[in-house]
Amino acid sequence: MSSPASRPRKTVEELRSHRWFASDDIRGFAHRQRMQQQGLVREEFMGRPVIGIVNTWSDLSPCHAHLRERAQAVKRGVLQAGGYPLELPALSLGEVMVKPTTMIYRNLLAMETEELLRSLPIDGVVLMGGCDKTPPALVMGALSMDIPAIFLPAGPMLNDRYKGQAVGAGTHTKKFWAEYAIGNIDRNEWVGLEARMTRTTGTCNTMGTASTMTAIVEAMGLSLPGAMSIPAVDAAHSRMAWQCGARAVDMVWEDLKPSRIVTRQSFVNAITAYAALGGSTNAAVHLPAMAGRAGIMLDLEEMDAIARRVPVIANLYPSGEKLMEDFFYAGGLPAVLNKIRDHLDLSALTVTGKTLGEDIAGWAGTEDGTILDPAHPLKQGSAECPEAGMTLAVLRGNLCPDGAVIKPSAASPELLRHEGRALVFDSNAEMLAAMDDPDLEVDRDTVLVLRNGGPIGGPGMPEWGNLPIPKKLLRQGVRDMLRISDSRMSGTHYGTCVLHVAPESAVGGPLALLRTGDTVRLDIGERRLDMLVSEEELARRRAAWVRPVSTYQRGYTRIFQAEVTQANLGCDFASLAGNAPTPEPPIY
Ligand code: FES
Ligand code: MG
Repeated sequence: MSSPASRPRKTVEELRSHRWFASDDIRGFAHRQRMQQQGLVREEFMGRPVIGIVNTWSDLSPCHAHLRERAQAVKRGVLQAGGYPLELPALSLGEVMVKPTTMIYRNLLAMETEELLRSLPIDGVVLMGGCDKTPPALVMGALSMDIPAIFLPAGPMLNDRYKGQAVGAGTHTKKFWAEYAIGNIDRNEWVGLEARMTRTTGTCNTMGTASTMTAIVEAMGLSLPGAMSIPAVDAAHSRMAWQCGARAVDMVWEDLKPSRIVTRQSFVNAITAYAALGGSTNAAVHLPAMAGRAGIMLDLEEMDAIARRVPVIANLYPSGEKLMEDFFYAGGLPAVLNKIRDHLDLSALTVTGKTLGEDIAGWAGTEDGTILDPAHPLKQGSAECPEAGMTLAVLRGNLCPDGAVIKPSAASPELLRHEGRALVFDSNAEMLAAMDDPDLEVDRDTVLVLRNGGPIGGPGMPEWGNLPIPKKLLRQGVRDMLRISDSRMSGTHYGTCVLHVAPESAVGGPLALLRTGDTVRLDIGERRLDMLVSEEELARRRAAWVRPVSTYQRGYTRIFQAEVTQANLGCDFASLAGNAPTPEPPIY
């Protein structure tokens, strides 16, 4: 690692924007002319770092509703530090509104980020995002472009309370829905709940995918220390935005690019933080995708190995029972990292220009039961199920030769070693229709299986993997069952759900061969997921299998289906992965 101080500072002539603005030819004239068309004077944008602010704000992205205003604080920071700020609106992926799933657009936002930065006179960038797919997408684009970049997390929404209980976005929606479905909550109460759980702008206030991914980005060294836990509406969030702007200018002079920060070691740090937080299974898709952009091959088994040794110490929904506002008061991510220092490479460089160890040194946490001691983690494994407290387990077997994942800490320990009869659905719509059927042939030991929900089959790998419990079993008091799919699950959800089965059924993965009535076995100790069907029978079924014809014959979805990789590889586009150099655009 070379410290920023040991490098010569960049000169004005070395700025990327210099190529656009300094030349004495007709192109340089036109570039300066068009800036002045906006009322700017030459000195505002010439001879200083031009900082792009990639803003994923929109009116249909409630988690990012404050980012338009927050960009003003970033601009003040950039100006104060001697740079010139430019706001670049980008695709806004509000998780709840975007159909069929934001996942289908993660790569599009990554591509947009990279190409915005490449095609415009930008020297450094502040990336504004937070809602689930936006942190990985923005980081993927910035890694590929490799100019100085700092990630500004949108921050979580404030806590809510309902009948004296803390209630969290997503997690409690699902809990209340199950109670409403069987009449434990009446219509008036249900309608009233619409105004609850999401009390302010900001990302989901549980350790869902947004908090998981912003924590991963901070642990990788791409955010300011402590940034991800600051509530969206806190004045500290505006101050952090100012600091991001100011820091981005210095990072340009220091030439502190992502390729100097993001290494295999920083990924290990990020996975370690993820394991300690009890983070979302979606990280198992986004981490390999981000690593791929840095030219790093990340094996799912590396994540499994880290999750085996790093205990969950964040007492946050859906694994625990506190919310992100509590996490902020308790000291946020640096307080967690200080507790698991022994598992981290503290020499990793961060956007501060210092090491991770220096960033978190002396960061005071509060011992209030939100961030626990590793000696007394959130969930202890038992003799029968040592895996019960783990954030992630990676499975292999004849149902998932390229891998599948499960989050044991959000599952029922008694279902983690389970054998049952499969009930297989070919589509989400078919499955949802069946769940209300009082005559559905199902009991608490049945294994619910959904296929055609993968990257190509979904398409876009929607969050269908948390299949609902059949109504007739809900009435019997059943709240969890073993569920298997090639889909993903919302990070705010819980349950014994095997996800990301690869290869997916739509490309002929073994999941396509499973039939209702077959026996399926999950053995978490052996990290195995198998169907107990003979090789001869599977060969017969394979020979009879016909690849489904895509209903998408044009447009972005067609490109997506042609380019997307399988879940274990991160679902990036094949042609976007890797870190081969891309030439700078010619100015003429
Ligand atoms: Fe945006 Fe949960 S919906 S973070
Ligand atoms: Mg989510």
